[in-house]
Amino acid sequence: MSEIRLGVYLDSFDPVCHDHLAAARSLLEESRLDQLLLIPVFRDGDGTTGMEDHVWRMLAAACSGDKRFLPYRAGADFRDPAFLDRLISGLRKEYACKMVCCVIREEWMLLARSWHRPDNLAEIRILPAADTADSSSRIRSSLSSGRVPSALSPSVAEYITSLGLYGFPGHVPCADGWIPKLFSALNPHRFAHSLAVAVTARNLALRYGADPLLAEQAGLLHDCAKCLPLADMQQIARQDHLTDDPDFLSSGALLHSVVGARVARDAYGVGNPDILEAIAFHNTGAPGMSRLAMCVCLADYIEPNRRPFPLLEEVRSLSAVSLEQALLLSLKGTADHVLSGGNTLHPQTLETISWLQSLPACSPAVSSP
Ligand SMILES: [Fe+2]
Ligand SMILES: [Fe+2]
Repeated sequence: MSEIRLGVYLDSFDPVCHDHLAAARSLLEESRLDQLLLIPVFRDGDGTTGMEDHVWRMLAAACSGDKRFLPYRAGADFRDPAFLDRLISGLRKEYACKMVCCVIREEWMLLARSWHRPDNLAEIRILPAADTADSSSRIRSSLSSGRVPSALSPSVAEYITSLGLYGFPGHVPCADGWIPKLFSALNPHRFAHSLAVAVTARNLALRYGADPLLAEQAGLLHDCAKCLPLADMQQIARQDHLTDDPDFLSSGALLHSVVGARVARDAYGVGNPDILEAIAFHNTGAPGMSRLAMCVCLADYIEPNRRPFPLLEEVRSLSAVSLEQALLLSLKGTADHVLSGGNTLHPQTLETISWLQSLPACSPAVSSP
Protein backbone atom coordinates (compact mmCIF):
# COMPACT_ATOMS: atom_id res chain seq x y z
CA MET A 1 0.00 0.00 0.00
CA SER A 2 1.30 3.43 -0.90
CA GLU A 3 1.21 6.40 1.41
CA ILE A 4 -0.87 8.44 -1.00
CA ARG A 5 -3.52 10.43 0.79
CA LEU A 6 -6.67 10.30 -1.25
CA GLY A 7 -9.86 12.27 -0.72
CA VAL A 8 -13.28 12.07 -2.27
CA TYR A 9 -15.49 15.12 -2.49
CA LEU A 10 -19.13 14.43 -3.29
CA ASP A 11 -21.30 17.30 -4.43
CA SER A 12 -23.84 18.16 -7.09
CA PHE A 13 -21.43 20.26 -9.22
CA ASP A 14 -24.53 21.30 -11.15
CA PRO A 15 -22.85 23.33 -12.47
CA VAL A 16 -19.34 23.34 -11.01
CA CYS A 17 -18.38 26.87 -9.88
CA HIS A 18 -15.59 28.76 -8.08
CA ASP A 19 -17.26 27.89 -4.77
CA HIS A 20 -16.72 24.16 -5.38
CA LEU A 21 -13.13 24.62 -6.50
CA ALA A 22 -12.31 26.82 -3.50
CA ALA A 23 -13.76 24.13 -1.23
CA ALA A 24 -11.73 21.47 -3.06
CA ARG A 25 -8.53 23.49 -2.66
CA SER A 26 -9.04 23.99 1.06
CA LEU A 27 -9.83 20.26 1.48
CA LEU A 28 -6.56 19.38 -0.19
CA GLU A 29 -4.64 21.66 2.13
CA GLU A 30 -6.48 21.01 5.41
CA SER A 31 -6.44 17.22 5.03
CA ARG A 32 -2.98 17.24 3.39
CA LEU A 33 -4.26 15.20 0.46
CA ASP A 34 -2.25 14.19 -2.59
CA GLN A 35 -5.25 13.69 -4.82
CA LEU A 36 -8.89 14.70 -4.54
CA LEU A 37 -11.55 12.92 -6.57
CA LEU A 38 -14.55 15.09 -7.34
CA ILE A 39 -17.62 12.89 -7.63
CA PRO A 40 -20.93 14.29 -8.88
CA VAL A 41 -23.98 13.25 -6.86
CA PHE A 42 -27.29 13.48 -8.68
CA ARG A 43 -30.55 14.56 -7.15
CA ASP A 44 -32.39 11.55 -8.50
CA GLY A 45 -29.68 9.19 -7.27
CA ASP A 46 -28.63 7.73 -10.58
CA GLY A 47 -28.34 10.75 -12.83
CA THR A 48 -31.34 10.09 -15.01
CA THR A 49 -32.19 13.78 -15.30
CA GLY A 50 -30.14 13.93 -18.49
CA MET A 51 -27.56 16.29 -16.97
CA GLU A 52 -25.07 13.58 -16.00
CA ASP A 53 -22.88 13.88 -19.09
CA HIS A 54 -23.01 17.67 -19.04
CA VAL A 55 -22.02 17.83 -15.35
CA TRP A 56 -19.23 15.38 -16.04
CA ARG A 57 -17.79 17.33 -18.98
CA MET A 58 -18.02 20.66 -17.16
CA LEU A 59 -16.23 19.13 -14.18
CA ALA A 60 -13.49 17.77 -16.46
CA ALA A 61 -13.05 21.23 -17.99
CA ALA A 62 -12.99 22.98 -14.61
CA CYS A 63 -10.44 20.53 -13.13
CA SER A 64 -8.13 20.51 -16.13
CA GLY A 65 -5.82 23.20 -14.71
CA ASP A 66 -4.90 21.31 -11.53
CA LYS A 67 -3.64 17.72 -11.67
CA ARG A 68 -4.49 17.20 -7.99
CA PHE A 69 -8.20 17.30 -8.87
CA LEU A 70 -9.69 14.39 -10.75
CA PRO A 71 -13.32 14.10 -11.82
CA TYR A 72 -14.49 10.60 -10.96
CA ARG A 73 -17.61 8.64 -11.83
CA ALA A 74 -18.77 6.64 -8.82
CA GLY A 75 -20.42 3.95 -10.94
CA ALA A 76 -22.83 3.03 -8.13
CA ASP A 77 -26.25 4.09 -6.92
CA PHE A 78 -25.99 6.76 -4.23
CA ARG A 79 -29.25 5.48 -2.69
CA ASP A 80 -27.67 2.10 -1.94
CA PRO A 81 -26.72 1.94 1.79
CA ALA A 82 -23.53 0.14 0.76
CA PHE A 83 -22.59 2.96 -1.64
CA LEU A 84 -19.74 4.35 0.46
CA ASP A 85 -18.41 0.87 1.28
CA ARG A 86 -18.25 0.00 -2.39
CA LEU A 87 -16.73 3.32 -3.36
CA ILE A 88 -14.00 3.33 -0.72
CA SER A 89 -13.09 -0.35 -1.25
CA GLY A 90 -12.87 0.20 -5.00
CA LEU A 91 -10.67 3.25 -4.57
CA ARG A 92 -8.32 1.53 -2.12
CA LYS A 93 -7.76 -1.17 -4.73
CA GLU A 94 -7.53 1.18 -7.70
CA TYR A 95 -5.17 3.63 -6.02
CA ALA A 96 -3.46 1.11 -3.71
CA CYS A 97 -3.72 3.61 -0.89
CA LYS A 98 -4.26 3.37 2.84
CA MET A 99 -5.75 6.74 3.47
CA VAL A 100 -9.09 7.84 2.11
CA CYS A 101 -11.12 10.67 3.50
CA CYS A 102 -14.54 11.66 2.31
CA VAL A 103 -16.22 15.05 2.22
CA ILE A 104 -19.83 15.66 1.42
CA ARG A 105 -21.82 18.87 1.33
CA GLU A 106 -24.48 19.38 3.99
CA GLU A 107 -27.39 19.23 1.57
CA TRP A 108 -26.62 15.55 0.98
CA MET A 109 -26.70 14.64 4.68
CA LEU A 110 -29.88 12.59 4.35
CA LEU A 111 -28.24 10.54 1.66
CA ALA A 112 -25.06 10.17 3.71
CA ARG A 113 -26.99 9.02 6.82
CA SER A 114 -28.32 6.02 4.92
CA TRP A 115 -24.82 4.86 4.01
CA HIS A 116 -22.91 2.30 6.04
CA ARG A 117 -19.70 3.84 7.24
CA PRO A 118 -16.81 1.73 5.96
CA ASP A 119 -14.21 0.63 8.54
CA ASN A 120 -11.36 1.76 6.35
CA LEU A 121 -12.46 5.37 6.01
CA ALA A 122 -9.96 7.70 7.64
CA GLU A 123 -12.23 10.68 7.93
CA ILE A 124 -15.69 11.83 6.91
CA ARG A 125 -16.48 15.52 6.97
CA ILE A 126 -19.55 17.53 6.17
CA LEU A 127 -19.15 20.83 4.36
CA PRO A 128 -21.66 23.50 5.30
CA ALA A 129 -24.24 24.19 2.60
CA ALA A 130 -23.19 27.09 0.41
CA ASP A 131 -25.13 30.24 1.27
CA THR A 132 -23.52 32.69 -1.10
CA ALA A 133 -24.37 33.93 -4.57
CA ASP A 134 -21.87 31.35 -5.78
CA SER A 135 -24.19 28.47 -4.92
CA SER A 136 -25.29 26.38 -7.84
CA SER A 137 -28.99 27.14 -7.39
CA ARG A 138 -28.37 30.89 -7.70
CA ILE A 139 -26.15 30.29 -10.69
CA ARG A 140 -28.88 28.27 -12.38
CA SER A 141 -31.40 30.99 -11.77
CA SER A 142 -29.06 33.68 -13.20
CA LEU A 143 -28.46 31.57 -16.28
CA SER A 144 -32.18 31.05 -16.88
CA SER A 145 -32.55 34.82 -17.06
CA GLY A 146 -29.70 35.13 -19.56
CA ARG A 147 -26.97 36.32 -17.20
CA VAL A 148 -23.61 34.54 -16.95
CA PRO A 149 -22.42 34.62 -13.32
CA SER A 150 -18.79 35.48 -12.67
CA ALA A 151 -18.60 32.44 -10.37
CA LEU A 152 -18.26 30.19 -13.42
CA SER A 153 -14.92 29.60 -15.08
CA PRO A 154 -14.80 30.81 -18.71
CA SER A 155 -14.70 27.22 -19.99
CA VAL A 156 -17.74 26.17 -17.97
CA ALA A 157 -19.60 29.36 -18.92
CA GLU A 158 -18.88 28.70 -22.58
CA TYR A 159 -20.06 25.11 -22.26
CA ILE A 160 -23.36 26.24 -20.75
CA THR A 161 -24.05 29.17 -23.04
CA SER A 162 -23.09 27.41 -26.26
CA LEU A 163 -25.48 24.56 -25.46
CA GLY A 164 -28.17 26.77 -23.90
CA LEU A 165 -28.20 24.74 -20.65
CA TYR A 166 -30.18 25.72 -17.52
CA GLY A 167 -32.60 27.68 -19.67
CA PHE A 168 -29.91 30.06 -20.96
CA PRO A 169 -31.50 31.74 -23.97
CA GLY A 170 -30.03 30.89 -27.36
CA HIS A 171 -27.19 28.56 -28.12
CA VAL A 172 -24.47 28.04 -30.71
CA PRO A 173 -25.81 26.21 -33.75
CA CYS A 174 -24.26 22.74 -34.03
CA ALA A 175 -22.87 22.83 -30.47
CA ASP A 176 -25.12 19.91 -29.46
CA GLY A 177 -23.26 17.68 -31.86
CA TRP A 178 -19.82 19.25 -31.67
CA ILE A 179 -19.21 19.46 -27.94
CA PRO A 180 -19.68 15.76 -27.07
CA LYS A 181 -17.54 14.88 -30.09
CA LEU A 182 -14.82 17.34 -29.06
CA PHE A 183 -14.89 16.00 -25.52
CA SER A 184 -14.14 12.52 -26.90
CA ALA A 185 -11.49 13.75 -29.34
CA LEU A 186 -9.50 15.93 -26.93
CA ASN A 187 -7.95 15.52 -23.50
CA PRO A 188 -9.59 17.54 -20.67
CA HIS A 189 -6.95 20.27 -20.83
CA ARG A 190 -7.42 20.76 -24.60
CA PHE A 191 -11.20 20.61 -24.21
CA ALA A 192 -11.17 23.35 -21.56
CA HIS A 193 -8.77 25.38 -23.72
CA SER A 194 -11.07 25.09 -26.75
CA LEU A 195 -14.06 26.31 -24.75
CA ALA A 196 -12.02 29.24 -23.43
CA VAL A 197 -10.76 30.13 -26.91
CA ALA A 198 -14.37 30.12 -28.16
CA VAL A 199 -15.54 32.64 -25.58
CA THR A 200 -12.42 34.81 -26.03
CA ALA A 201 -12.73 34.77 -29.83
CA ARG A 202 -16.40 35.77 -29.58
CA ASN A 203 -15.52 38.73 -27.32
CA LEU A 204 -12.73 39.85 -29.66
CA ALA A 205 -15.07 39.56 -32.66
CA LEU A 206 -17.68 41.71 -30.91
CA ARG A 207 -15.03 44.34 -30.18
CA TYR A 208 -13.40 44.32 -33.62
CA GLY A 209 -16.32 43.88 -36.00
CA ALA A 210 -16.03 40.22 -36.97
CA ASP A 211 -18.96 37.79 -36.77
CA PRO A 212 -19.15 36.68 -33.11
CA LEU A 213 -20.98 33.43 -33.88
CA LEU A 214 -18.45 32.36 -36.50
CA ALA A 215 -15.63 33.31 -34.13
CA GLU A 216 -17.17 31.18 -31.39
CA GLN A 217 -17.58 28.22 -33.72
CA ALA A 218 -14.05 28.52 -35.07
CA GLY A 219 -12.72 28.90 -31.52
CA LEU A 220 -14.50 25.75 -30.41
CA LEU A 221 -13.08 23.69 -33.26
CA HIS A 222 -9.68 25.33 -33.81
CA ASP A 223 -7.78 22.47 -32.10
CA CYS A 224 -10.14 19.65 -33.10
CA ALA A 225 -7.23 17.69 -34.64
CA LYS A 226 -4.64 18.58 -32.00
CA CYS A 227 -4.83 15.28 -30.10
CA LEU A 228 -4.56 13.06 -33.19
CA PRO A 229 -1.30 11.11 -33.49
CA LEU A 230 1.10 12.77 -35.95
CA ALA A 231 0.88 9.74 -38.26
CA ASP A 232 -2.91 10.19 -38.53
CA MET A 233 -2.49 13.90 -39.28
CA GLN A 234 0.10 13.08 -41.95
CA GLN A 235 -2.20 10.52 -43.53
CA ILE A 236 -5.09 13.04 -43.75
CA ALA A 237 -2.76 15.73 -45.10
CA ARG A 238 -1.29 13.45 -47.78
CA GLN A 239 -4.49 11.79 -48.87
CA ASP A 240 -6.30 15.14 -49.19
CA HIS A 241 -3.26 16.97 -50.62
CA LEU A 242 -3.51 19.63 -47.91
CA THR A 243 0.16 20.57 -47.99
CA ASP A 244 3.47 19.35 -49.35
CA ASP A 245 5.44 21.61 -47.00
CA PRO A 246 7.92 19.28 -45.23
CA ASP A 247 8.00 21.52 -42.16
CA PHE A 248 4.23 21.20 -41.76
CA LEU A 249 4.27 17.48 -42.50
CA SER A 250 6.85 16.74 -39.83
CA SER A 251 5.32 18.75 -36.99
CA GLY A 252 2.03 18.17 -35.20
CA ALA A 253 2.30 21.71 -33.78
CA LEU A 254 2.11 23.05 -37.34
CA LEU A 255 0.06 20.37 -39.07
CA HIS A 256 -2.91 20.25 -36.65
CA SER A 257 -4.23 23.55 -38.00
CA VAL A 258 -4.60 22.58 -41.67
CA VAL A 259 -5.69 19.06 -40.77
CA GLY A 260 -8.06 20.58 -38.19
CA ALA A 261 -9.78 22.59 -40.92
CA ARG A 262 -10.30 19.37 -42.89
CA VAL A 263 -11.54 17.47 -39.81
CA ALA A 264 -13.90 20.35 -39.02
CA ARG A 265 -15.31 20.07 -42.54
CA ASP A 266 -15.56 16.29 -42.71
CA ALA A 267 -16.26 15.20 -39.13
CA TYR A 268 -18.09 18.27 -37.78
CA GLY A 269 -19.88 19.29 -40.96
CA VAL A 270 -18.49 22.85 -41.14
CA GLY A 271 -19.12 24.31 -44.58
CA ASN A 272 -18.36 27.96 -43.88
CA PRO A 273 -15.03 28.84 -45.56
CA ASP A 274 -14.36 31.68 -43.11
CA ILE A 275 -14.46 29.28 -40.17
CA LEU A 276 -12.26 26.80 -42.01
CA GLU A 277 -9.73 29.52 -42.85
CA ALA A 278 -9.63 30.70 -39.23
CA ILE A 279 -8.91 27.13 -38.09
CA ALA A 280 -6.24 26.61 -40.77
CA PHE A 281 -4.37 29.84 -39.89
CA HIS A 282 -4.75 29.81 -36.10
CA ASN A 283 -1.15 28.84 -35.30
CA THR A 284 1.07 30.48 -37.93
CA GLY A 285 -1.22 33.27 -39.08
CA ALA A 286 -1.14 34.19 -42.80
CA PRO A 287 -0.63 37.45 -44.70
CA GLY A 288 -4.01 38.90 -45.58
CA MET A 289 -5.88 36.77 -43.03
CA SER A 290 -9.42 37.87 -42.22
CA ARG A 291 -10.37 39.70 -39.04
CA LEU A 292 -12.21 36.56 -37.99
CA ALA A 293 -9.02 34.51 -38.35
CA MET A 294 -7.10 37.21 -36.46
CA CYS A 295 -9.59 37.04 -33.57
CA VAL A 296 -9.22 33.24 -33.31
CA CYS A 297 -5.42 33.37 -33.56
CA LEU A 298 -5.21 36.03 -30.85
CA ALA A 299 -7.80 34.25 -28.66
CA ASP A 300 -5.65 31.12 -28.79
CA TYR A 301 -2.78 33.14 -27.30
CA ILE A 302 -4.62 35.06 -24.58
CA GLU A 303 -7.47 32.77 -23.43
CA PRO A 304 -7.93 32.95 -19.66
CA ASN A 305 -6.79 29.39 -18.86
CA ARG A 306 -3.27 30.11 -20.16
CA ARG A 307 -0.58 29.68 -17.55
CA PRO A 308 1.32 32.96 -17.07
CA PHE A 309 4.29 33.50 -19.40
CA PRO A 310 6.33 36.56 -20.39
CA LEU A 311 4.33 38.91 -22.61
CA LEU A 312 0.92 37.36 -21.85
CA GLU A 313 -0.44 40.27 -19.81
CA GLU A 314 0.99 42.79 -22.26
CA VAL A 315 -0.74 41.08 -25.20
CA ARG A 316 -3.98 40.83 -23.18
CA SER A 317 -3.90 44.56 -22.41
CA LEU A 318 -3.12 45.41 -26.01
CA SER A 319 -6.01 43.19 -27.19
CA ALA A 320 -8.40 45.75 -25.67
CA VAL A 321 -6.86 48.49 -27.83
CA SER A 322 -5.84 47.06 -31.21
CA LEU A 323 -6.45 43.65 -32.77
CA GLU A 324 -3.57 44.08 -35.21
CA GLN A 325 -1.05 45.30 -32.66
CA ALA A 326 -1.97 42.60 -30.15
CA LEU A 327 -1.71 39.88 -32.79
CA LEU A 328 1.61 41.27 -33.99
CA LEU A 329 3.01 41.24 -30.45
CA SER A 330 1.75 37.70 -29.87
CA LEU A 331 3.36 36.41 -33.08
CA LYS A 332 6.62 38.16 -32.22
CA GLY A 333 6.44 36.48 -28.82
CA THR A 334 5.86 33.11 -30.48
CA ALA A 335 8.78 33.77 -32.84
CA ASP A 336 11.12 34.62 -29.95
CA HIS A 337 9.97 31.55 -28.03
CA VAL A 338 10.53 29.22 -31.01
CA LEU A 339 13.92 30.69 -31.89
CA SER A 340 15.18 30.80 -28.30
CA GLY A 341 14.41 27.07 -28.03
CA GLY A 342 16.74 26.45 -30.97
CA ASN A 343 13.85 25.60 -33.29
CA THR A 344 13.16 26.89 -36.77
CA LEU A 345 10.41 29.41 -37.18
CA HIS A 346 8.05 28.67 -40.04
CA PRO A 347 8.32 31.32 -42.80
CA GLN A 348 4.54 31.78 -42.77
CA THR A 349 4.78 33.26 -39.27
CA LEU A 350 7.53 35.65 -40.39
CA GLU A 351 5.48 36.65 -43.45
CA THR A 352 2.46 37.32 -41.21
CA ILE A 353 4.59 39.47 -38.91
CA SER A 354 5.85 41.50 -41.91
CA TRP A 355 2.31 41.87 -43.25
CA LEU A 356 0.98 43.06 -39.88
CA GLN A 357 3.86 45.55 -39.57
CA SER A 358 2.87 46.99 -42.93
CA LEU A 359 -0.71 47.71 -41.84
CA PRO A 360 -1.66 51.29 -40.91
CA ALA A 361 -2.92 50.03 -37.53
CA CYS A 362 0.62 48.90 -36.68
CA SER A 363 2.50 51.86 -38.14
CA PRO A 364 4.82 53.64 -35.67
CA ALA A 365 2.63 56.75 -35.76
CA VAL A 366 -0.29 54.69 -34.46
CA SER A 367 1.55 52.41 -32.09
CA SER A 368 3.71 55.08 -30.41
CA PRO A 369 2.16 56.83 -27.40
FE1 LIG B 1 -3.68 24.92 -32.00
FE1 LIG C 1 -5.23 26.22 -29.28
